[in-house]
Amino acid sequence: MSGIFYGVGVGPGDPELLTVKAIQVIKAADVIIAPKTEKKEGSVALSIASPYLKPDVEILTQVFPMVSDTEILEDAWESNKQTILALLAAGKKVVFLTLGDPMFYSTYIYVFRLLENSGYPIETVPGVTAFCAIGSKLGYPLVEGNNILSIIPATIEEDKLEQALAMSDNVVLMKVYKNVHDVVEKLNRHQLADKAVMISRCGLPDEKVVRDLDAIGDEKINYLSTILSRRS
Ligand SMILES: C[S@@+](CC[C@H](N)C(=O)[O-])C[C@H]1O[C@@H](n2cnc3c(N)ncnc32)[C@H](O)[C@@H]1O
Repeated sequence: MSGIFYGVGVGPGDPELLTVKAIQVIKAADVIIAPKTEKKEGSVALSIASPYLKPDVEILTQVFPMVSDTEILEDAWESNKQTILALLAAGKKVVFLTLGDPMFYSTYIYVFRLLENSGYPIETVPGVTAFCAIGSKLGYPLVEGNNILSIIPATIEEDKLEQALAMSDNVVLMKVYKNVHDVVEKLNRHQLADKAVMISRCGLPDEKVVRDLDAIGDEKINYLSTILSRRS
C-alpha cells in the first residue's frame, strides 16, 4: 500500500484552534514530522499538536535551516526529502505539521514542491493563520468594506515596504522581529501608527501584547510577532 503525505496546519498557538480534520489526520498518523529552523530549538507546531498525538506515534524532527548558504540549504532539504520518501515507500501516513496555515508563508510550501511530482498522494489540511487568530483575539477587525489589506513580511526590500504602506488602509506586518524600530518609524510616517498593536506568541502560554509601539526598547523581539494596524 502506498503512503500518503499530509501537510497539516495547527494554527498559531491555541491547541483548540485546530480543525476537526487536522485532529483526525494527526490522530491517524504513523509518523509526525515536526519542522524546526535550528537543531537546538523545540518545535512550536509539535507542542500545539501534542494533545492529539497517538501514544505510539513516531515523531521525527527535521531541521530546515534559515541560512543563505545554498549548499547547506540544498543538502538539508534533499536529506529531509529522502527521509520522507523512504517513509512513503514503506506505506506510512506521514503528517508534516505547520504553524498557522500550511500554504501561507510556510516551510511546508517548499516541502510540498519537493514532493508534488513524487507520485505519492498529498493532502493539505488548512489551519487558522496567525493574523486571523490575532484579529479575533484582540477584537481587531482586519478589513472592512472596500478597504485594502496588505499582508507584508517586514523582511522585504525597503522600497517595497514603503509602497505597500502607502497604498494600504489596513496592514498585517509579519516577521517584524529583525527591524521593529524601523517598521514603527515607517508606520508613524504613513499615519498607520495610532492604531497599531503588536502581539508576540499569540495563543501560547507566554503571549505578549504591546499597544504602545513607540515604547519598544532594546528587548529582543520574538520571531513569532505580528503587528496589525489600520489608517487612523
Ligand atoms: C513563517 S511565518 C508563518 C505563518 C503561518 N504559516 C501562518 O499561517 O500564520 C512566521 C510569522 O508568522 C507570524 N506568527 C506565526 N505565529 C504567530 C503567533 N503565535 N503569534 C504572533 N505571530 C505569529 C509572525 O509574524 C512570524 O514571524
